[in-house]
Amino acid sequence: MIRSAAFASPKINCVGNARPGPVCVTGAGYVGLVTAVCLADSGIEVRLLDIDRDRLALLARGRAPIHEPMLDELLASVLERGLLRLCDDTADAVRGATVVMIAVGTPPLSDGRADLSQVRAALTSAVACAGSDTVMVIKSTVPPGTTVNLRRLCRHDGRSLPLAVCPEFLSEGSAVKDFRQPPQVVIGGDDAPACRRVAELFAHINAPVLITDPTSAELIKYGVNAFLALKISFINEIAHLCELVGADVETVADGLGADSRIGRAFLGAGLGFGGSCFPKDVRALDQAASYHGQTFELLRAAVEINAQQRSRFVAKVQRALRGNLHGRRIAVLGLAFKPGTDDVRQAASIDVIRHLEDLGADVVATDPVARSTAALELPATRMAADAYECVRGADAVVIVTEWPEYRALDWQRVAGLVRRRIVIDGRNCLDADAVVNAGFTYVSTGRPTRRPAATAQAPRQRIA
Ligand SMILES: NC(=O)c1ccc[n+]([C@@H]2O[C@H](COP(=O)([O-])OP(=O)(O)OC[C@H]3O[C@@H](n4cnc5c(N)ncnc54)[C@H](O)[C@@H]3O)[C@@H](O)[C@H]2O)c1
Repeated sequence: MIRSAAFASPKINCVGNARPGPVCVTGAGYVGLVTAVCLADSGIEVRLLDIDRDRLALLARGRAPIHEPMLDELLASVLERGLLRLCDDTADAVRGATVVMIAVGTPPLSDGRADLSQVRAALTSAVACAGSDTVMVIKSTVPPGTTVNLRRLCRHDGRSLPLAVCPEFLSEGSAVKDFRQPPQVVIGGDDAPACRRVAELFAHINAPVLITDPTSAELIKYGVNAFLALKISFINEIAHLCELVGADVETVADGLGADSRIGRAFLGAGLGFGGSCFPKDVRALDQAASYHGQTFELLRAAVEINAQQRSRFVAKVQRALRGNLHGRRIAVLGLAFKPGTDDVRQAASIDVIRHLEDLGADVVATDPVARSTAALELPATRMAADAYECVRGADAVVIVTEWPEYRALDWQRVAGLVRRRIVIDGRNCLDADAVVNAGFTYVSTGRPTRRPAATAQAPRQRIA
């Protein structure tokens, strides 16, 4: 179903049956790679262009440079079927393409604004090589007004190519699934046939298509991320209040979430949001609002609360160890900003570990897949191969990422390995009964601390 907010004509819903022509995707990162592989898997001929030759060489061997469920298998399959071609030359990638999608990074500048230099460079070089009816599409997340401003870069040799924006809503850790089953496809553009051509690429996907003006499409993308970030910060403030008044945030969140106007998703109390999108998009939206004279207080509060959650967590670890972290061994379980990915950009783990180390703690960390990406940010931190190795001799075990592996730990076994039986769960993800029954003091977010029944204080363990 296509909903058209910008175009009056009901004929907009005439997505054709013919297979779309070749597509060039520029940027082989999370969004570009997943987009290219999934479009190719649907039978479209895709060229994937990147300036990073090492990345392309790895991809050519059928290996994705990022950890994402199903991605390696799909990549190998589309390469073998000849549906995906890897390119380091713009002219080669763009020649004959009916659509060029720009999916390069928009990292934050020091003041929080989105850095659009990669988008401008990629668009300019693609336009110079594109045919006169090629549709240019911005897939990167860009601030409201950007696509309209970028139109001037689509003029070349007396031609003016249509430019649309098609923001991406996938989440890392479930990127392939999210791309294939999005809640909707949003396309922003002022050229109806060009928007239809973009919509045709998603004809195999069972999701409503919303076609609107470019600035509204850009704002939908920022609005989604900002709203979800607000939800997380909201529940974290409720969690703080729960600790003060003796309530249980999980019960409160269940109650809130049962109301269909609210929903339970993104009401997980704990260490807050991280990753390459929420923090940067919330700040970029705030900057975009400021540019137009608006002070978006709600966004600023969400960012501040998120930062506070990390320092509150470290303070909890400190309190659990009677105020002194000097020389204490802390086992940190989880480095990725969320389960399912090896991405540690803006991850809570990085802030928490640096803070613990600044306070003199001896940190040993682990993660199922993100140890090497995290080691680049934390060169002095010891990495353990798995959770059981990590907790050996620990004065406290802290959970930073809610990997299923950590939920399933054998706490009786962990109890035999640690020096002190203290767990601080930054994601409220463990089975509290299992942890407490193994003799641990269990500290979480927005809930009363639980101690083992027999002992008010966990005994000091002897380590073999
Ligand atoms: N990562 C996510 O979960 C996610 C989700 C939705 C939207 N987004 C948005 O999508 C965009 C891309 O994000 P990402 O995480 O995939 O970025 P990324 O940093 O993982 O990848 C960007 C890629 O672009 C390549 N590149 C840079 N300049 C280029 C050029 N001129 N020509 C060709 N390639 C070039 C880089 O080498 C890199 O491989 C961002 O705007 C981001 O906000 C990201």
